Amino acid sequence: MPSIRELYLQHVAQTSEIPMMLEISHAEGMYIYTKDGKKYLDLNSGISVSSLGHRHPNVIKAVKDQLDKHLHTMVYGEHIHTPQVTFAQLLSKHLDNGLDSVYYLNSGTEAVEGAMKLARKYTGRYKIVACSNAYHGSTLGSESLRSDDSFTRSFLPGIPGVYHIDFNDENQLDWIDEDTACIILEPVQAEAGVYPPQQDYLKKVRQRCKEVGALMVLDEIQTGFGRTGFLFAHKKYDVEPDILLIAKSMGGGMPVSAFVAPKEIMMAFAKKPMLGHITTFGGHPACVAAAHATLKTLVEGDIYQDVLRKEQLFHSKLKHPIIKEVRSSGLMMAVELTRRKYLKHVVNYTIENGALIDYFLFNSTSFRLAPPLIISDEEIEKGCTILLAAMEYAVSKYKKN
Ligand SMILES: Cc1ncc(COP(=O)(O)O)c(C=O)c1O
Repeated sequence: MPSIRELYLQHVAQTSEIPMMLEISHAEGMYIYTKDGKKYLDLNSGISVSSLGHRHPNVIKAVKDQLDKHLHTMVYGEHIHTPQVTFAQLLSKHLDNGLDSVYYLNSGTEAVEGAMKLARKYTGRYKIVACSNAYHGSTLGSESLRSDDSFTRSFLPGIPGVYHIDFNDENQLDWIDEDTACIILEPVQAEAGVYPPQQDYLKKVRQRCKEVGALMVLDEIQTGFGRTGFLFAHKKYDVEPDILLIAKSMGGGMPVSAFVAPKEIMMAFAKKPMLGHITTFGGHPACVAAAHATLKTLVEGDIYQDVLRKEQLFHSKLKHPIIKEVRSSGLMMAVELTRRKYLKHVVNYTIENGALIDYFLFNSTSFRLAPPLIISDEEIEKGCTILLAAMEYAVSKYKKN
């Protein structure tokens, strides 16, 4: 009989030749347990998904309650599903700039696609500006926003009309012009290796968009829902987008995403022609019930209010000769090492010794820390102890006897 691992390799599609292959048994709070009896401290949150930890009781209850009522009933936008209404109402209360209309989808990349279409339809313009070293998703439109052609080369041509500028370089903002439908950018560049915006950069983007009538689309798919110490990073950096993209931790572990815009902009999809964007499963009631429970837990509790203190605690512990820099915005952190050669040893040792960390897409000298926001001080201490031991191990690999 082949093992589950063998069957996995044979029948489940892989995206690399070196999958991590943890055979998951269950997950709870800060920990993921594997079938071979190991327990891992999650310092990764499945790339910023499990911000409330695994199986938060409020999320589990909301999903179970919804399962007892109904699942899918009709393609998007025809029936009224209470979870969609209650989430959208609660979210709108915490957003400004007229962001009061929520279009639900299933994944981050779908939110990006929807926003690009909405911006083009609303403005009647074609041009889309994106930032170098940004990752917005893997469907063809989102993939076209990726600047690094070593990734995109095999899929070209992408969608026409996309132009790249460098994040944080205000001298390039002239690329946003009267032909531009929108600029799409992350408030903190995630996959580049956590680069927060420099002083007033986002405000300058906002200003330039106003001047030329382009829409500002903020991708808060990684930064949203408390990750940076604020409910949304645009609050932290004091700027309001025209369209907001949310996903990942939105569903507390369930797959759901959305783009959010003022009703007046969103109505562009309902007219001339109508059905401008449609989906069968977007905003599935069980997933949006989970999203509502997640948001309610965040806004009524005190989880993300403690994020900045925990960020400082990580900074105070992460001191080692092979650490070049720790960049962070809340609990979205990149630890940059002095030499690229150390990275794989640090990552492998850390995982083998019971803590999960990960690489970035566009940074070969840094590793990612994005733990659930509920991480305790003791767990930060424990995680950092493993990381520092991993760095010692990496150094020992290159020591001459
Ligand atoms: C900033 C950002 N945008 C969009 C996406 C795409 O999200 P998804 O994988 O849910 O399609 C990601 C995924 O990592 C992301 O980090």
